[in-house]
Amino acid sequence: MKGLILSGGKGTRLRPLTHTRAKQLVPIGNRANLDYAVDDLSDMGIRDIVVVISPETGTEVQNHLGDGSAYGVNFTYVLQDQPLGLAHAVKTARPHLGEEPFVMYLGDNLLTGGIGHLLEAYHEGETAACILLTEVPNPQSFGVAVLDEQGQISRLIEKPAEYVSPWALVGVYLFTPLIHKVIETLQPSPRGELEITDAIQGLIDWGFTVRSEKVRGWWKDTGKPEDLLDANRLVLSRLERNIAGTVEESELVGEIEIAAGAVVRNSRLRGPISIAAGAVIENAYVGPYTSIGQNAVVKDAEVEYSILMQGAQIRHLSRRLDASILGEEAWMGGRSRKSHSYQVILGDRSSVVVDGE
Ligand code: G1P
Repeated sequence: MKGLILSGGKGTRLRPLTHTRAKQLVPIGNRANLDYAVDDLSDMGIRDIVVVISPETGTEVQNHLGDGSAYGVNFTYVLQDQPLGLAHAVKTARPHLGEEPFVMYLGDNLLTGGIGHLLEAYHEGETAACILLTEVPNPQSFGVAVLDEQGQISRLIEKPAEYVSPWALVGVYLFTPLIHKVIETLQPSPRGELEITDAIQGLIDWGFTVRSEKVRGWWKDTGKPEDLLDANRLVLSRLERNIAGTVEESELVGEIEIAAGAVVRNSRLRGPISIAAGAVIENAYVGPYTSIGQNAVVKDAEVEYSILMQGAQIRHLSRRLDASILGEEAWMGGRSRKSHSYQVILGDRSSVVVDGE
């Protein structure tokens, strides 16, 4: 069995954070979103993973993942030169997938609970494909599956305008090579893409069995900023205490990870919190569900339920920063400190001065 990770697209819904970065590389709990997908595939025993990249962010994704040795897998990169849909991405990767079954994983999806049960469903009997489903409040934003009384899939629809089912297709799929035959016959959808949902419907139309499993644990499509914060919360809620960095005159409560080379001085920390190497926390309060990236700085400031990416800085804030995302090297600060609260989403290298309010 092979793996197929889709890591293309432009990530427009995550702008400005993705003006300068692939959405799949946005850090969640101080690891790239994509890293969790690689882990899930590798935990299933998959070693050969094809990664579909786009011209816009391909180099960055390749630089991050490397040849796979850091993850104990082998990566083969394939360029999808235009965003013509998920089924088009499979078509592009086909020469590297051969005649083997494969697990396709969308690089901006995040799951806990692993995907082992997808493999179990596949081994249950003659199966052309296995999909993962989860109940969502906004099925019109996803591909959805209509289930019959026995829980079998009767129909699949991409982004249904009318309500037909609450069961969304999660971005993890197990396919046999039969999917390639259906993709050859697909026509572009109204949004001009070759939809994977239509390809799976094609398998059903041709009389093949498609099985579904429900998501175990939780699932997030990290397409929007508020989803990122929630994904960060979910990842951090599984954190275990690990203090490798320097801690001086500070009060630490709860599950906190401080990487070697990070410094926490004269501060109050309430976990879960992840602090990456080189970060400096000084005269500060850091509250639950916060990730502080490499070399980021929190000085004379308070922050909680937020993500500070690599090199981001907050200094001398008079109000607590809450539910906020600061991109790489974004900077926010004032010259003196009072106390209230802010909510911002700042792209890479942005800067906000809050003096004299
Ligand atoms: C894609 C699929 C959709 C699926 C979703 C999961 O949507 O087309 O069927 O439910 O991923 O993340 P897109 O991200 O292209 O809108």
